[in-house]
Amino acid sequence: MNQANTEIVKVENLHKSFGDLDVLRGIDMTVRGGETVVLLGSSGSGKSTLLRCINFMEMPSEGRVYLHGEAVGKERNGKIRYSERDLCALRTRIGMVFQHFNLFPHMTVLQNVMEGQVTVLKRGKSEAAETARRQLDRVGLAEKAEEYPARLSGGQKQRVAIARALAMDPDVMLFDEVTSALDPELVGEVLKTMRQLAEEGMTMIVVTHELGFAYHVANRVLFLNEGAILEQGAPHDVLKNPESTRMREFLEGHSLFKLPD
Ligand SMILES: Nc1ncnc2c1ncn2[C@@H]1O[C@H](COP(=O)(O)OP(=O)(O)OP(=O)(O)O)[C@@H](O)[C@H]1O
Ligand SMILES: [Mg+2]
Repeated sequence: MNQANTEIVKVENLHKSFGDLDVLRGIDMTVRGGETVVLLGSSGSGKSTLLRCINFMEMPSEGRVYLHGEAVGKERNGKIRYSERDLCALRTRIGMVFQHFNLFPHMTVLQNVMEGQVTVLKRGKSEAAETARRQLDRVGLAEKAEEYPARLSGGQKQRVAIARALAMDPDVMLFDEVTSALDPELVGEVLKTMRQLAEEGMTMIVVTHELGFAYHVANRVLFLNEGAILEQGAPHDVLKNPESTRMREFLEGHSLFKLPD
């Protein structure tokens, strides 16, 4: 991939508060082209909020987000202002996949994957359909193009949601616990799709409790605790030799997964 190693996303001193609650307390993070970064942390540590600040579904209270080295928002009189136009443009470059896939039930799989391309990117129908078929093929669902979502398994629906995000040609993909709502036997197919994307060089920030995925696929693991990055590094170091008691406790809580020796 031509973006390999260039800085795609940078987060600098990011803070987010909701009223009195300081949810993010100064996050610094850089993600380079082709990297898969996994965010770990217990419930309420701020993982979703961090992803949502990166694509401006939430407005940061303080700090900056950079895409391709360019700061999002303009500083004027000491305040950062975000124009809706800039944010819409930014969001088309960042793909996001959630726990709940929110496919349109009245549209076929193909139409679901075409929709954003046509309405947001203003692509013509035939180009959108061609891109949709290519992305469905990529997630192993080419033969389901004409089905309606109701006739798919949860894992298949989630892979359609991934194809839908990929069809927008994003620079980076954000995944927020995309396997958490799936039956256990369906988790593997979605993780396999994500692993394949990582191997193809997609830049990804992944919130997950799947430590096996973190261990085998991530280039870097970040452990978030109370809105701050407590540990980060190569999966082998962070997951096998955590420095903090907090991280050790977190890993013990996930003892179902036995890391290889
Ligand atoms: N819109 C909001 N308004 C008020 N508080 C919020 C809002 N969004 C998140 N929070 C609070 O911010 C904190 C962090 O939430 P967040 O969803 O980022 O955690 P998380 O690490 O993703 O947790 P989980 O693993 O349960 O998904 C929580 O205390 C949550 O209640
Ligand atoms: Mg969350």
